[in-house]
Amino acid sequence: MTTENLVPTASSETTESPSESRNTNGVRRRSFLKGIGIAGAALTGGSLLAAASETAQTSGEITSSDVAILRFLAAAELLETDLWQQYAELGGVISGKQNPYQKALQKLDGDGSQYITSNTLDELSHAEFLNAYLLSKGAEPVDLDAFRTLPSSQAAGAQNIGRLTSLMNLTVDTSWYTRYRSTDNPDLGGTFPQAIDLVNVPAIPRTNDDFGPADHIQAIANTAAFHFAMIEQGGSTLYSAMAQKASNVEVLRIVVSIGGDEVAHFLEWVDFAGNGVQGPIAPFTDPTNGLTFPDFNATGNPELQTNLIFPVPCEFISSNLPRCAVIRPTNPKGIAMGVVNFLTGTGLFAGQSPAFFKALTTLAKHADAVKRGF
Ligand SMILES: [Fe+2]
Ligand SMILES: [Fe+2]
Repeated sequence: MTTENLVPTASSETTESPSESRNTNGVRRRSFLKGIGIAGAALTGGSLLAAASETAQTSGEITSSDVAILRFLAAAELLETDLWQQYAELGGVISGKQNPYQKALQKLDGDGSQYITSNTLDELSHAEFLNAYLLSKGAEPVDLDAFRTLPSSQAAGAQNIGRLTSLMNLTVDTSWYTRYRSTDNPDLGGTFPQAIDLVNVPAIPRTNDDFGPADHIQAIANTAAFHFAMIEQGGSTLYSAMAQKASNVEVLRIVVSIGGDEVAHFLEWVDFAGNGVQGPIAPFTDPTNGLTFPDFNATGNPELQTNLIFPVPCEFISSNLPRCAVIRPTNPKGIAMGVVNFLTGTGLFAGQSPAFFKALTTLAKHADAVKRGF
């Protein structure tokens, strides 16, 4: 199809005007908010962040261990914000004509673009809050700006700015889908097959050429849907694991509360991804690479049944106890490095510098070394 009639969104601007401000995470606030269609959103200005955190009413000192937890979580949230921003620019809410990627996402759920934009704003709020809280405690916030070096999509709608993450050649782990429909638990040795093999495929349109044919852009949208749930399940597990390491009760409150939001995201994307592997959308095949999304419900396999969107009760703590519906895994041992290695294996950081991996690894190792204590 031709894409000449696509209307570039406000997010296609590439220069930072003097009136734009960077927040402490380096996100160009005005252009980001315009790009996702939420001009005027009630968020604090970046220049106000430090001042606000200095006067924040928070409870006393926190330990270096709690700082290590919060700094790794802040890094994870900056990475989440970066990837979600890319999804929002191309697939989120915009004013004007919808592009074929948005339309494909909206076939999975008519509210899909709003959910993408909302998820993006949530991640931005998590990152900003954690860094501001760290500042309020006299601790160093996390700044990954030096690593915003990866290329943007060239498709109409994407800003042409440096990114922390790449969504253009991903290997998406889809085992979360079968895991949450299984009675086994990875913490007790359970292993789970991929629901569908998504290997070295784009999750966003790379250029305008990816906007068609229809089954090609639908395959990209479906890939994104499985990636959304993969990311948010990872966040759910990360926060559940980190909660077990927090010492200060206010830090525990922060970790549990943000973790609950990650779970809220995850649940929606479970349903969303399932909509792409059932009628009327599936089965279909991307004619450019042969990637097929089957109708999972036609298989008769309960571990693929699309409407089993809540976590099926599974083994928990001990196989001698009754099964329990929970987020899993939640074992905190080595969780931070586990997340770094897992995401690296998906291709999310392809092209990043050794300095990036060193910075992320250092944050992860400090978080993993934390033991709960008072
Ligand atoms: Fe988050
Ligand atoms: Fe998240």
